[in-house]
Amino acid sequence: MDDRFERLGLTRRLLKGLVTDPVSNYLPAEWLKGLLRYGKSEMAAANWADPGGWRSMVISYEGNPAQIADKILVHGGTLSMALRNRLRLASRLLTGLINTAEPPVHVLCLGAGPGSIILRAMAAADVPCEATMVDLNGDAFEYGRDLARRYNLSDRVRYIQGDVRDVGKMLDSPPSLVKMIGICEYLQDEQIVEIAVRLAEAMPPGAPIVMNNITLRHGSDRFCRRVLGLHMRHRSVEQLTALAGMAGFGRFSVHDEPLGVYSVIVGHRLEA
Ligand SMILES: C[S@@+](CC[C@H](N)C(=O)[O-])C[C@H]1O[C@@H](n2cnc3c(N)ncnc32)[C@H](O)[C@@H]1O
Repeated sequence: MDDRFERLGLTRRLLKGLVTDPVSNYLPAEWLKGLLRYGKSEMAAANWADPGGWRSMVISYEGNPAQIADKILVHGGTLSMALRNRLRLASRLLTGLINTAEPPVHVLCLGAGPGSIILRAMAAADVPCEATMVDLNGDAFEYGRDLARRYNLSDRVRYIQGDVRDVGKMLDSPPSLVKMIGICEYLQDEQIVEIAVRLAEAMPPGAPIVMNNITLRHGSDRFCRRVLGLHMRHRSVEQLTALAGMAGFGRFSVHDEPLGVYSVIVGHRLEA
């Protein structure tokens, strides 16, 4: 995947607003599910098996699905385009943070899936760095280890199968940097605050945390909920930074991807 952001031109925006969003959001869900089943959509099957899981994310990242139904979802769907933009934006920001962190650099990645974002960031960084990936779903790790091998980073990563809500038990060494990309939209407010409190207890003052919000600008929330079974919590930047702020993080900078669906937010552990 190259480094350029994906955008929607005027014609595609019109088509989306007048045709694809109304059709996908308002046709009966059973018709749409039937069409996706008939079209052997791997993206839909991955979401039905594990809503919001790593596999459907990787199908969007790889961007070359075999089935026509998936080609439409991956290249025509704003959410898929925005996901690739978020990958580009977050990995670029993480590379900068790794380069400026105090060595030795250790990144803790919560809800990491296979670690696609951090591995891309580590490969582009000028300084060595280690990463710990935590995910509920251990079947992401085989794909992740293979990806790490391709980046020549196998000896710098470890994978832990676990629930991010138990992060307190995973902080054996203070992380220089914490990445929470693609996870807050699956957590309740109280869970985000509780996790951030545990992190703030372990992180040195000034250490960065990287997170993202998601807005309704993708235009397909009804489709995601009714057809894919994907229930995401949409929050404004202000709502998400307020939650992290309650736990002792501040000095936030906000970085928007061009489709307006995701912002990547960098905060810092404040002095106690
Ligand atoms: C949408 S994927 C994002 C993967 C990766 N962070 C990325 O952005 O490419 C969400 C991941 O969070 C994981 N996840 C969801 N809830 C979790 C929890 N409570 N503890 C650990 N992992 C969780 C899922 O298994 C999945 O791999």
